[in-house]
Amino acid sequence: MNRAPELAERLLFQEAATLAQSAYAPYSGFAVGAVVVGPSGRSHHGVNVENAAYPAGLCAERAALAAMVVFGERSLRYVAVAAVDGQDCLPCGLCLQALAEFGDPAIVARTGGEVRVAQLSDLLTAPFAFGDGARGGPAGDGAGEAGR
Ligand code: THU
Repeated sequence: MNRAPELAERLLFQEAATLAQSAYAPYSGFAVGAVVVGPSGRSHHGVNVENAAYPAGLCAERAALAAMVVFGERSLRYVAVAAVDGQDCLPCGLCLQALAEFGDPAIVARTGGEVRVAQLSDLLTAPFAFGDGARGGPAGDGAGEAGR
C-alpha cells in the first residue's frame, strides 16, 4: 500500500467501517464492509455474508461489486474495505481478481494499523484474462447483448 488517503478516500473508508456492523459473520466473527465507487461517484455497499457451508460465504467486496453492476455501472474508481474494531483487512486474492474485471481502482484499506491506498494493479500484478485480454471473455466485450 503505497500512499496515505486523501480526505474523500478516508471518508469512504469510514463508510465501509460503518457498513461492517451490518455484516453476517457468525462463523469467523470477522465482520467486513466494502464500498465501491464507479463513474457516477455513487457508493455501492457490500458486507460479508457467511454460510454454515463455509465456501458458500461471500466477501464484502464482491457483494459491493454486484450492487454496482445491478445499478448499471461497470467501471471501478475506488474500493474501500474495512473490518470491525479497526482490524487490518486487505482484499483477498479472489476479490482482487473479481475487481480487476472492472478496471484498476484505488484500494483503500487498513494495513499495519494504518489506512493506506494502493492501485489494484499493485496488489494483483497478473490477473487472469482470456488470451486477447478482452473483457467478457473471447466472445464479447461485456457491453453488448443483455446479460453479457
Ligand atoms: N472477508 C471479506 O469479506 N473481505 C476481505 O477482504 C477479507 C475477508 C471475509 C470473508 C469471511 O467471511 C471473513 O472475512 C473471514 O475471512
